[in-house]
Amino acid sequence: MKSVISNQSSPLNGTIRVPGDKSISHRALMFGAMAVGETRVSGLLEGEDVLCTASAMRALGAKVEREEDGTWTVQGRGVGGFSEPTGVLDMGNSGTAARLLMGILATQPFTTFMTGDASLCSRPMERVMKPLRPIGVNFVSRDKGRMPIAIQGTSNPMPIRYELPVASAQVKSAVLLAGLNAPGKTTVIEPNPSRDHTEKMLTHFGAEVEVVHQDNGARVITLTGQPELVARDVVVPTDPSSAAFPVVAALLVPGSKITVEAVGMNPLRTGLFTTLKEMGAKISEENRRIEAGEEVADLVVEYSQLQGVDVPASRAPSMIDEYPVLAVAASFAKGTTRMNGLEELRVKESDRLAVVAESLAACGVDLEEGDDYLVVNGNGSPAQGGGEIQSRLDHRIAMSFIVFGMASVQPVRIDDASPIDTSFPGFNDLMNGLGAKVQKKGA
Ligand code: S3P
Repeated sequence: MKSVISNQSSPLNGTIRVPGDKSISHRALMFGAMAVGETRVSGLLEGEDVLCTASAMRALGAKVEREEDGTWTVQGRGVGGFSEPTGVLDMGNSGTAARLLMGILATQPFTTFMTGDASLCSRPMERVMKPLRPIGVNFVSRDKGRMPIAIQGTSNPMPIRYELPVASAQVKSAVLLAGLNAPGKTTVIEPNPSRDHTEKMLTHFGAEVEVVHQDNGARVITLTGQPELVARDVVVPTDPSSAAFPVVAALLVPGSKITVEAVGMNPLRTGLFTTLKEMGAKISEENRRIEAGEEVADLVVEYSQLQGVDVPASRAPSMIDEYPVLAVAASFAKGTTRMNGLEELRVKESDRLAVVAESLAACGVDLEEGDDYLVVNGNGSPAQGGGEIQSRLDHRIAMSFIVFGMASVQPVRIDDASPIDTSFPGFNDLMNGLGAKVQKKGA
C-alpha cells in the first residue's frame, strides 16, 4: 500500500506530456503479435496494464522487446499462429487486455488459462463470452462468468453477426479479433459508437474493415476474416484519459496555466473536453494535427470558474473513463451537474459510481447517487476536502481524488496510490513538477 496526501497546490504552471494511450498501446502489441514481420512501436505506455499484455504475447510465442531508446519491437506469429502457453496468463488489473485476448484466443486451437487481480476477477466476462460462444469456443469460468477462466479455442471458427447490447469497445473488439481467424465476414453493430482504435489499427495492419454509419447514429462494422496482417510501425499518441487529470487540476487550482502537449483528440474519446468547455473551462486547442493516423492537439488550460451542466447520456461512451474526474470538477463548479447514463461505471476497475459518491461525500460534497446517474451540487467555492479515500484497486479513483486535494480547503488522503502505475506511471512527480504538493505518507 502506498498512501499519499494531496495538499492544496501552488498555481500549476508549465508544459507537460502525459504517457501513451492505453487502449492503443494494448492493441499495438496484440496486433503486432498477429502480424507477419517486425512491428516497431514508439510512445508505448509502459504502465502495468500494458506490460501484462506484453507478457501474454510472449507467453503465446511472440517476441516482444524494448530497445534502449524506448521503442518496442514485436516479431509477430501471423493470425492463428500462436502456441499454447504453458502457464496461466495473468492480466493484472486490465479489463481491456483480458477481454481483447479472450477474442483472439477464441479462435486459436488450444486451451488457455487466464486470471487477474481481485478487481479484474470481480468484473463481468459473460458480456464477452456470450457473443463468442457461437464462433465455437468453450469457456469454463468461476462464479457465472468471473475470472479465472479457461478458454478452449476452436479450430473450426464460424463468423458471426452481433449487435452490442452495451456500448463497449472491449466487447466490439473481442468479436472482431475472433473474426480475424474465422472465414468469411464478421459483423458488429453498435447502436451508440465507442472508441474505434481496433477498426483503425486493424486497417493499418492490412485487414479489410468496412464501417457503415447509419442515419440513426449506429455503426455497422464488417471485417473480412483470415487476412494476412503485415507488420507496421505504430506511433502511440498520448492518452486523453490521462491528460484529463492535469487538465482538471489546472482548471481548479487558482492562478494555473499549463500546456499539455500532443493529446490524442480522437472524437470518440473527447467527451470530457466538450463537457468542460460547456462548463466554462478555458481550454484552447493549439496546433491540431494528424500524427500517425490519430488526431492530436496541444491543450492550453487556465484556471476557470466552472458552472454546473447537464451531461447527456449519449455522450457517455466518449468519456466513459472520465466521470470520476468530471465529478471532482463538478464539486468546485457553481450549480448542479447532472450526469446520466452511467450504468457502465458500476463494472469498471471498481464500482466507480458508488466509490465516487462515497469519496465525494467524505470530502463534504453535496450529491445524489442513482442507479445510473450522479448529481453533484457545487457552490462555486473550493470544496472542503479532508476525506480519507480508499482507491479500491482503481487508478482513476486515486488520481481523481489527488486532483481534488490540490484544490480543496483541507488535504485529501488516498490509502493506496499504487494502482496509478497501471496507466500513468510518474503521475505524482509530474504534478509536483507543475506546482502540486502530493506527499508520500511519512515523507
Ligand atoms: C477500452 C474500452 C472501455 C474503457 C477502457 C478501455 C478499450 O471499456 O473503459 O478503459 O481500450 O477498448 P468498455 O469497453 O468496457 O466500455
